Amino acid sequence: MLKNKVIVCVFAVFALIVHGKSDGTDEVSVSVIEGDSVTLYTNITRNKQDRIKWYFNNSRITHIDENQTNICTDEWCKEIFRDKLKVDNRTGDLTITNIRNTNSGVYQLKFSRRSGNIFSVSVSGVSAAEGDQVTFSVKKGESVTLETPVGKKPFDVMTWYFNDILMAEISGDQSKICTDDQCKERFRDRLKVNQTGSLTIMDTRNTDSGEYKVEITISNSFSIIRSFSVTVTGLSPAAVAGISFAAVFGALLVGAAAAGGIYYHYKSSRNVDKDNNMHRVPYEVLENDG
Ligand SMILES: *[C@@H]1O[C@H](CO)[C@@H](O)[C@H](O)[C@H]1NC(C)=O
Ligand SMILES: *[C@@H]1O[C@H](CO)[C@@H](O)[C@H](O)[C@H]1NC(C)=O
Ligand SMILES: *[C@@H]1O[C@H](CO)[C@@H](O)[C@H](O)[C@H]1NC(C)=O
Ligand SMILES: *[C@@H]1O[C@H](CO)[C@@H](O)[C@H](O)[C@H]1NC(C)=O
Ligand SMILES: *[C@@H]1O[C@H](CO)[C@@H](O)[C@H](O)[C@H]1NC(C)=O
Repeated sequence: MLKNKVIVCVFAVFALIVHGKSDGTDEVSVSVIEGDSVTLYTNITRNKQDRIKWYFNNSRITHIDENQTNICTDEWCKEIFRDKLKVDNRTGDLTITNIRNTNSGVYQLKFSRRSGNIFSVSVSGVSAAEGDQVTFSVKKGESVTLETPVGKKPFDVMTWYFNDILMAEISGDQSKICTDDQCKERFRDRLKVNQTGSLTIMDTRNTDSGEYKVEITISNSFSIIRSFSVTVTGLSPAAVAGISFAAVFGALLVGAAAAGGIYYHYKSSRNVDKDNNMHRVPYEVLENDG
């Protein structure tokens, strides 16, 4: 008897409402859980002279010009972001690693004289998370499904990794499963992926214990990396038949429901402006530089 265990990876809801603005910029809502790494794309072709700035709740957090890259130089910024911020000085893309609840808010891009996309980011805690990862334990020999119920492919690309070994890449109608040599060595013929991006590892072994990561890129607007720690225990499924994992799993589902998974939608700028109330961040007017 082969037991199949399904792990719902907290990607519970994925709503998509596209609503571009008249000036060609978009407003994107991003909902993630604590511990995720989130990259917000500028979607611009940068000229060398372009200045790129990111604002958080209307206060500047990064500034790139042709000679330098400044990240989080103010005290309040260091307090909220510590060393979480990274900016690609070529594209201007902003990454917030190990995101926390205090990083929820409105991120806005400004480049040279123009406004770029606005991202409304909301971060929920997840009770199942231990440290920065969602942690699971499975029994040797069982199948495990890391499921991403994201509906009908609202993502551009979904990539699965095991300790940095590329396991699977799903995009459009194509799935590349375990094409990498290191992956073949470890998981040969034991992986399956779904149209929805769910990944199944069959006949698990102790060596399957480790860190799994999924990266999802959505509408070329942003991407999310989420980590899971999976432990395969030595007991065979038969030895543990009758032991219910419902308790653990139930708690996890509650966490998943509370977190609300990841969803995003575009909404009109008026909504964001209205909701854009300041808290600890000192006010700084969005500037037009040139
Ligand atoms: C960058 O450095 C060059 C050479 O020193 C200087 O001419 C230019 O004004 C600088 N640009 C900015 C934005 O400071
Ligand atoms: C961009 O980053 C690279 C690598 O970190 C660095 O070598 C380069 O000088 C940076 N360019 C600017 C303009 O800051
Ligand atoms: C940023 O703005 C959001 C609302 O848009 C607010 O909930 C959040 O507390 C603000 N964060 C900080 C650190 O000011
Ligand atoms: C695959 O997708 C279907 C729906 O398309 C879903 O019912 C199923 O649970 C998914 N997962 C696996 C591992 O088959
Ligand atoms: C990226 O920019 C192009 C050209 O400005 C625009 O047509 C496209 O809609 C943008 N995509 C996103 C996701 O913002």
